[in-house]
Amino acid sequence: MTRPACLHDFELAAREQMSHMAFEYVSGGAGDERTLSWNTEAWNDIRLRSRALIDVLSLDTSIELLGRRMSHPVLLAPTAYQKLIHPEGEVATARGASDASASMIVSSFSTSSIEDVAGAATSPLWFQLYIQPDRGFTKELVQRVESAGCEALCLTVDTPVLGARYREARTAFRLPDGLTRVNLSGMQHVAANAAHRPQEGAIYSAVLDPSLTWKDVEWLRSVAKVPVLLKGIMDPDDATLAVESGVDGIVVSNHGARNLDTVPATVTALPRVVEAVGGRVPILVDGGVRRGVDVLKALALGASAVLIGRPYLYGLAVEGSAGVSRVVRTLRTELEMAMALTGRTTIGAINSSVLWT
Ligand SMILES: Cc1cc2nc3c(=O)[nH]c(=O)nc-3n(C[C@H](O)[C@H](O)[C@H](O)COP(=O)(O)O)c2cc1C
Repeated sequence: MTRPACLHDFELAAREQMSHMAFEYVSGGAGDERTLSWNTEAWNDIRLRSRALIDVLSLDTSIELLGRRMSHPVLLAPTAYQKLIHPEGEVATARGASDASASMIVSSFSTSSIEDVAGAATSPLWFQLYIQPDRGFTKELVQRVESAGCEALCLTVDTPVLGARYREARTAFRLPDGLTRVNLSGMQHVAANAAHRPQEGAIYSAVLDPSLTWKDVEWLRSVAKVPVLLKGIMDPDDATLAVESGVDGIVVSNHGARNLDTVPATVTALPRVVEAVGGRVPILVDGGVRRGVDVLKALALGASAVLIGRPYLYGLAVEGSAGVSRVVRTLRTELEMAMALTGRTTIGAINSSVLWT
């Protein structure tokens, strides 16, 4: 195969290199994978306006998010079990992210400890939190990731239970011996390598709390010293409740189409969430972002930044940390091209007028 040039190429190359179980785990979605298709298709359904004769010699992709300057608006979404994909797992990802000046959100289900990841990262790290049934343990985990230098918490709120993921079921997905959710070890009653999937016929997982409510968001805000964002908001009513609960940001996400099949694409939900939030907190979006033009469209629709999930895992599979870095750099370069061709020299200049409506 020729050298991967764009994010789709990385997926094709990764399919050749990853074990069947790992590829099915990463690439799969829930149910009949309708939302999985929509997540990418819906970006493609939006048309852009190209503009002529605008001086675009100097382009600036930098943004400010939660008081931090970032050199571009692409962050790495939290994804579990990266040592399934590369022996150095999240540590290699952190190196690649830093090399491409991208912030990385480390999953609660990472297979490298937060301290090891922090040791490898020079770009900002955030931590994705699954509140555990044991709140005492969860509080200690929050303090631990804050001490490690995580600058924000992304509380995932779209997963009281996992979706029907048939590719995981068909490949009898399990963590290979030696891999554990290291950040969750020490929790009573739950082995660090216990399956995240429930037994056949059951729906609840030992490492997800199905009883979470807005009260727990309040609780988390009371124990956290860093900003708290909610990840997995799709409904404008939930977005309103999120802002009222005092969170610092929202990630519009359908969990990479891995939970509830036939929910809309995230870009379909984004405008309504933006309207409900009315600029009170920053909104990020993930799901199916594969091209620089997708990033431009997200920003045009009111997002402050985007997250990518699968693409950097494919980069990690193919070229390790260099692959992660190349995936992010490719997206950034494509964003710069899209900015130049739509006549926008700064991120602030990207608004709905770039869309062909
Ligand atoms: C293999 C894999 C593992 C994931 N693990 C987590 C996780 O541990 N926590 C979480 O909040 N989201 C998780 N997600 C969802 C991602 O954070 C993100 O929402 C999604 O991947 C974005 O869509 P994309 O893959 O189309 O870019 C995971 C996604 C994938 C593909």
